[in-house]
Amino acid sequence: MSHLLSVDDLGRDGIDEVLQLTESFVEVSSRAIPRVSALRGKTVVSLFFEDSTRTRLSFEAAAKRLGADTMTFSAGSSSLKKGESIRDTIQTIEAMGVDALVVRHASAGVPAQVARWASSSVINAGDGWHEHPTQALLDCYTIRQRLGSLEGRRIAIVGDVKHSRVARSDVKAFTALGASVTLVAPPTLLPPSLAGWSATASHDLDEVVGKSDVVYLLRMQRERMTEALVPSLREYTAAYGLTPARADRVEAAGAIVMHPGPMNRGVEIAADVADRPNVVVVDQVRNGVPVRMAVLFLLLGSRRDLVEEPGGDDRG
Ligand code: CP
Repeated sequence: MSHLLSVDDLGRDGIDEVLQLTESFVEVSSRAIPRVSALRGKTVVSLFFEDSTRTRLSFEAAAKRLGADTMTFSAGSSSLKKGESIRDTIQTIEAMGVDALVVRHASAGVPAQVARWASSSVINAGDGWHEHPTQALLDCYTIRQRLGSLEGRRIAIVGDVKHSRVARSDVKAFTALGASVTLVAPPTLLPPSLAGWSATASHDLDEVVGKSDVVYLLRMQRERMTEALVPSLREYTAAYGLTPARADRVEAAGAIVMHPGPMNRGVEIAADVADRPNVVVVDQVRNGVPVRMAVLFLLLGSRRDLVEEPGGDDRG
């Protein structure tokens, strides 16, 4: 694999390989000096054309913990502002000698286009409504960590599915690992067709909530909406928000609650529900670093480098 643009690039075996490798990097992350030199000499560039907290910082932490050098490109303070094209920007950055480009863009397909232009490995860090494959990988890892396996699990993905790249990647990854997925949303927040989605749909959260092992909440992505798709946020919350009463039913079923972040407390999740012990949002963020270490290592490293360094790199 030379790029990671979609969960489809991995398939079940590839997902399993990433999750297995993640275990090694969880162990590395628990060391006093959480660093190895498996990617020493490699350079990883974050190319974010859209805002991010979790994905950008965790990719940068992942690259550094593998001993790679990092460079950060911020669109807002770059020569794009002076009219330079993305293609020329990529050519310029690659001329400095880089090995991987981690790309986020508000438009679907930009990382794939960058991969056609670039000679480095390209990782999709979220493109428009299309995909966010490393989010799906860290979500799978978190579910395995909490529930043991995804095989036979029932997962409800709730909220703004229509605009969600996370939902698209998660459905692919969850079903590849044997889970069944129900998309729960009002008709206006579901894709016009579920052709190509391995999932069923429901408009009734109360019917689904007590029967699910995982309730995965999505953010209302107001920046991607071009029209009013719900009557009001208050009505949306009443019908599709994780209220304290619904959260009690989730807890009673022994289920976990997930959210990719950033959360809108008081909209898709009640403010105090977000801090309950079965809400695993912080685990998802924590797992993002070793999962992204695994992805970078699979693209840029060699197993030999990992095996030769059992004690880790304490050279700072
Ligand atoms: N989940 C996620 O992609 O968060 P960021 O937008 O903060 O990277």
